[in-house]
Amino acid sequence: MKLPSSSATDLNKKNMVHMVSMKDFSKEEIDQMMELMDLLKEARKDNAIPHLFKDKSLAMIFEAGSTRTRVSFEVAATLLGGHALFLSSRDIHLGGKESIDDTARVLSRMCDIIMARTNNPETIDALCKMSTVPVINGLDTRFHPTQMLADIFTIKEHMPKDKKLTDLTLAFMGDATDVCRSLLLTCTKYGMNFKQIGPKKYQMQKEWLELADSYCKESGANYEITDDVSKVSECDVIYGDSFYWVTQLDEKEERLATFMPDYVITEELMRKAKPGAMLLHCLPANDKEEVTREALEGEYCVAFDQAENRLTAQMAILVYFTNKYITNPCEEKKSMHEKKLNNYLSKL
Ligand code: CP
Repeated sequence: MKLPSSSATDLNKKNMVHMVSMKDFSKEEIDQMMELMDLLKEARKDNAIPHLFKDKSLAMIFEAGSTRTRVSFEVAATLLGGHALFLSSRDIHLGGKESIDDTARVLSRMCDIIMARTNNPETIDALCKMSTVPVINGLDTRFHPTQMLADIFTIKEHMPKDKKLTDLTLAFMGDATDVCRSLLLTCTKYGMNFKQIGPKKYQMQKEWLELADSYCKESGANYEITDDVSKVSECDVIYGDSFYWVTQLDEKEERLATFMPDYVITEELMRKAKPGAMLLHCLPANDKEEVTREALEGEYCVAFDQAENRLTAQMAILVYFTNKYITNPCEEKKSMHEKKLNNYLSKL
């Protein structure tokens, strides 16, 4: 395959790294992103975030709606001194008038990083194949990697001081969603025990369990897939997500009838978890379905800290994925070009 010729930003394409899934990264690499989150959160608290994305542009493609992912990426780019472009698939030619390949090539020549929320995993794979700048998966039907950084970071912030992540067990309540799959892989890679607690029909597919098996061998973690809600008694973290996604509205009634009331996160369910257990939810939450308002308002619920940490994560992602490829402008050259341009303009 012939790749597009070098763009004006002259990126180092040989080592281009995209973020499609957490399975693409070692624990050490995830730790590096998490350490960056620590530093950037500290800088934000001091209202002193360095402009590490100065004059750079983030292209954000959205084929589906979003509050947290959109706002956190856009604010992160601004706080770091750069700019974000919101590109709804209704407004650009993506896969319609123009192929995804050509869209990736064009965006790569104008922007420094691309984030995309797609309805079809093939779209994100096609963007990665042709882009000459890093591509970040902002959620497809398989994975939600940017959510994982915020989740692990939030758990670390709120877990008891005498505990390590490897001491904890996380229970995902409900369907084997993109978030559930991402948590299975991230937790087991990280040495955290994982449970999916949900009805048999909606349990995790074998191929992902096989991958998790290989992570468990390395990390010492274990996982369990069960329909037995009483297993929350073994869990330190209870995690909620919607019982259906926007593309599954035709299954909504059937799903709700299967999941409710057994798998709904209530105050009573939280009392059955381990003492001190925390509640996470990737949000948006439906407080008439997968979680009650009382549980969301409980002192154990950290879902809004978790949402805020999406911003911490996106700042780290922008810095981590662009810092290796982008050369900052040389002051001498800038001054030389400024002189040349001013000289030309003075003659107009
Ligand atoms: N959790 C999450 O991705 O939220 P949004 O759909 O609002 O981006």
